[in-house]
Amino acid sequence: MINKGIILAGGSGTRLSPLTKAVNKQLLPIYDKPLIFYPLSILMLANIKNILMIVNPGQIENFKSLLGDGKRFGIKIQYKIQKKPKGLADAFILGKSFIKRDNVALILGDNFFYGQSLTDKLEKSLTHNKGARIFLKNVKKPENFGVAKIVNKKIKKIVEKPKKYISNLAITGLYFFDNNVVKYSKSLKLSKRKEFEIVDLLKKYNKKNKLFAEFIGRGGAWLDTGSINDLYDASSFVSALENRQGLKIACLEEIALSNGWINKSQIRSAIKFYGKCNYSNYLKKLVK
Ligand code: TTP
Repeated sequence: MINKGIILAGGSGTRLSPLTKAVNKQLLPIYDKPLIFYPLSILMLANIKNILMIVNPGQIENFKSLLGDGKRFGIKIQYKIQKKPKGLADAFILGKSFIKRDNVALILGDNFFYGQSLTDKLEKSLTHNKGARIFLKNVKKPENFGVAKIVNKKIKKIVEKPKKYISNLAITGLYFFDNNVVKYSKSLKLSKRKEFEIVDLLKKYNKKNKLFAEFIGRGGAWLDTGSINDLYDASSFVSALENRQGLKIACLEEIALSNGWINKSQIRSAIKFYGKCNYSNYLKKLVK
């Protein structure tokens, strides 16, 4: 089982500058809530309650004033500073004392997932104890992503931002790893762009035939929100769905309530915490 998760919520957010000059990318809005709510909601939907949030120097207080220690959602959030954005695989070096001897999930703080079969796929993946698991999604421009080539249901090749076409399957920012991840990450060398690359880590698992893939099909959405257009597209997507359905995406208290992690009186406290706003109005409906 996997019951620990890391959210990488640091990074420099260069592509979103000047928006990110004073505010961390993960605290920017996606329609009606901060971006960080969305990846956090995915871990919560996967039943993961023990979370390490990796943030930039000087930003723990900002995250804490929004999420605290996680009690509001019936979970436990600890924070760790990443001094420099040394790459995605740095999460496991920084997270060593959090991971201990357990398996762990990693989600990137700027990734947005949505879709009906997602929770089922997550739950299924959590029960796999061996190796690493990635989630692949068809994209139009694979040259912008880490990409996997699948032959006979096996991962044949993984390439970061391939200049030459190998496949349309992007590796999304959600990964499940067994405990070898700490050892493997420590053995990585910095890449040309001076990062510990997640692709190099995945290659280590693949060499041992221990890398497995799940597919996010047509019914599932995956957006990364690293560029201005992506950020606005994600906002429009959430706005269209929420306003049509009257149901919120990534309402953390709602997920916590339905998981049985908090009760209605905690929802009432959350309403006080947020004050008079649409989000609170939505929470009020949950306790009626
Ligand atoms: P990226 O989008 O690759 O990097 P970035 O956020 O620094 O943005 P830009 O490319 O515009 O400069 O990062 C993906 C996610 O991972 C994002 O949520 C930030 C996070 N991240 C870290 O927390 N630490 C890191 O060392 C890196 C590279 C990313």
